[in-house]
Amino acid sequence: MTKPLTDNDKTRLNQERFRDAVGSDKARDLENLLMNVTNLAGTYYPEGRDVAGYALYAMSEEDRAKPLAERLPPWALRHYYGVKDNNYIDELYLTQGRNDMIGMRRILEADGFDMMGEKIMEFGCSGGRLMRHLEAEAQANEVWGIDLHSAAIHWAQAHLSPPFHFMTNTTVPHLPFEDNTFGLIFAGSVWTHIGELDDAWLLEIRRILRPGGRLYITISDENTLAEVARMSPDHDSNRHVAELDAATGMLSKDWVAFVTRTTPWLQRVIYRREAWLERIGRWMDVRMVKPSAYGWQTGVLLAKPE
Ligand SMILES: C[S@@+](CC[C@H](N)C(=O)[O-])C[C@H]1O[C@@H](n2cnc3c(N)ncnc32)[C@H](O)[C@@H]1O
Repeated sequence: MTKPLTDNDKTRLNQERFRDAVGSDKARDLENLLMNVTNLAGTYYPEGRDVAGYALYAMSEEDRAKPLAERLPPWALRHYYGVKDNNYIDELYLTQGRNDMIGMRRILEADGFDMMGEKIMEFGCSGGRLMRHLEAEAQANEVWGIDLHSAAIHWAQAHLSPPFHFMTNTTVPHLPFEDNTFGLIFAGSVWTHIGELDDAWLLEIRRILRPGGRLYITISDENTLAEVARMSPDHDSNRHVAELDAATGMLSKDWVAFVTRTTPWLQRVIYRREAWLERIGRWMDVRMVKPSAYGWQTGVLLAKPE
């Protein structure tokens, strides 16, 4: 007959269990794996942590008093935006973000869509380079920024909230918002990196858009390939395309999409524009397409059918 465990037995067993480094070394090994194999489903980029863990802080009084333009993320969260001659330039970071948002505003206006008063989300916001230019909209309704890079979200929460709202998401195409929540969702240079789960993300975003709501995303397509080759012949991506073509012969075949260099941060997705629009056009209304709307990427405005 087995003897029931006493409280002392349970404490001893728990202590033995935790003496095994379940919560420390092994967790860190797993974290390393997730950080370095970013295509694993369900991953996000965890906050970098010291041996003992990590701490988050409230916004300082000094920050609170500063305008948004003076609350800029550290270089590591700028994704090479605002770089000239190998230097990060604050003013350039702000101007480029503002211009990319002016590009989106013009497209929305041309479509007769007024975003003021709408609930808005930026998908893949990083350190808020784009959404920081929606300060007036954030006074009128919620403006959310989400990203799977938690260090960026933590920085944004500590420096840009209020007025904005932020959340870390994972690579699983799920967003914890109710159906029909947002009037506008936008994503600059995110569909250029997603890869296999791109359609699943589109469908999840369609679910949380209200009927008639707009999705503005930027993509890389044939125009992007030609513009990069013309304007920046030394850019790594030209070589990556040539290497993939040498391995597959895709450029002389009827390709519809390809993905180069599947390594963390460097996966690039290229769509053949018309084929892609035809496919997603079955679930979303294609309202407008503007080549070179965001650098050499094409801006695409979609609407959730009413
Ligand atoms: C090239 S950066 C662009 C940042 C920002 N949109 C801008 O224009 O400044 C791409 C961002 O998308 C984020 N990202 C990529 N895949 C994502 C996903 N599935 N969900 C959320 N964010 C994602 C990355 O973490 C990164 O911050």
